[in-house]
Amino acid sequence: MAKPRSSNARTKLRTKAPSAAPRISAADKPLKIGLLGFGTVGRSVAKILCQGPNGPLLLTHVFNRNIKKKKTDSLPAHIRWTENIHEVLRSDVDVVVELIGGTKPAGDWVRRALRAGKSVVTANKLLISESGPELAVLARKMGRRIEFGASVAGGIPAIIGIQEGLAGDRLYRIAGILNGTCNYILTRMESSGSSFVSALKEAQDLGFAEADPSSDVDGIDARAKLVILTQAGLGLQVRSEQIPCRSITSITSADFMYARELDCSIRQISLAEKAVVPGPPRCVRLAAAVQPALIPAESLMAHAQGSQNIVTAAGEFSGRSVFSGYGAGGDPTAVAVVSDLYAIARSAGAPAAALPKTAETPNEVSGDFTVPHYLRFVVQDRPGIVASLAAILAKYDISIDALLQKPGFPHSALPFVMTLESCDSAVLQRALEEISRLDFHVEPPLCLPVFSD
Ligand SMILES: NC(=O)c1ccc[n+]([C@@H]2O[C@H](COP(=O)([O-])OP(=O)(O)OC[C@H]3O[C@@H](n4cnc5c(N)ncnc54)[C@H](OP(=O)(O)O)[C@@H]3O)[C@@H](O)[C@H]2O)c1
Repeated sequence: MAKPRSSNARTKLRTKAPSAAPRISAADKPLKIGLLGFGTVGRSVAKILCQGPNGPLLLTHVFNRNIKKKKTDSLPAHIRWTENIHEVLRSDVDVVVELIGGTKPAGDWVRRALRAGKSVVTANKLLISESGPELAVLARKMGRRIEFGASVAGGIPAIIGIQEGLAGDRLYRIAGILNGTCNYILTRMESSGSSFVSALKEAQDLGFAEADPSSDVDGIDARAKLVILTQAGLGLQVRSEQIPCRSITSITSADFMYARELDCSIRQISLAEKAVVPGPPRCVRLAAAVQPALIPAESLMAHAQGSQNIVTAAGEFSGRSVFSGYGAGGDPTAVAVVSDLYAIARSAGAPAAALPKTAETPNEVSGDFTVPHYLRFVVQDRPGIVASLAAILAKYDISIDALLQKPGFPHSALPFVMTLESCDSAVLQRALEEISRLDFHVEPPLCLPVFSD
């Protein structure tokens, strides 16, 4: 019987590093890889590339600052460790894997790598959401590829699934839960009845939320990912500032109570919908936003629990496809990076026409959706409140669907909910500006769209 390996042996890559690069025949010429950044994801990428059969992929360079602190003998001895970026960019690596993060200097290095005739793989959502189309043009010009599958939803093959698996379809809608921190907070509020503040604290204690969570809870992080999905899936080029995003901080436990009454759940939903009016002139419209929204309790999105992510893509021919799982973490994200490397290895020598198309700029971009809405008011109770709300809504041709009021709240701060039939969110916004000026509000009204799956 074989002696079981100790857990230490299992987790270590290699106890003794080999002294030379693996022998490879000319016919099996490997894709040489230079890794920029040996942090959480970089370390995992190196581990996967150096463990077990690595097929056509050969890690040859690792770049990081303070390289002495990073260097580990658990990787093969042929790897060149360096803190000199020029050494990597001037080397014979075929692909540069950028896992530094941020736009500077990482963006400059990515541009230089492409200009030096290398393909690039990156997990950098900030860089791709800001400069994805420009980098794609540069890569095309140089006859090289830039892949960014790990920049959205970490280890879930959403980008590669959309760009490769659904390349034959014409996609018109991408929706998703793209931020694990928000999903953790909202699902905790839902399951335990806790407040936003205590669910956030718990997420921070468990490492699911940063000390400064604003980029996550205010929708900035998810918006950058939606920009990338819009480019990759809908073929549209937008800037982050064009997409409205709203915070989840105003969601309370009372909202979950009322959502449950409506057979719904609340999640931070990122949604982009493309509509083409054939013309002439042809007009491409994009509606896109990141915001907390009600979704049916039985929907797939509502089943995403904790820090999970989900991406759905709807196409003219294939219907709806769903990608879900755990979006972040070193190992899952590294899987997406290595999968991109395999895609590049497989496509070596492919004609330029096979490269992803350049994204077009939509003629109109808005954050408006025509859907049912949920309004939550907290008021100082007195007769006539509902009548005055109904009068303003009627003025904007908005119909009330239902009114819900749970007992047990003080008259001085009484929450109640109104659901509205389908209406344009921009028109509703104008009605709400008028409603907000009424003098019985204890806190500003909360308005959430109600999305179907
Ligand atoms: N972590 C995840 O779960 C996850 C998921 C999806 C996407 N991503 C993306 O993946 C990328 C890497 O993330 P990460 O979590 O691996 O970050 P990280 O742990 O901070 O690693 C970044 C590495 O780059 C090095 N570095 C930073 N600036 C440098 C510079 N100017 N010169 C040389 N080296 C530099 C850092 O060195 P020091 O250690 O010396 O600072 C560190 O080793 C980011 O774009 C991130 O958004 C991460």
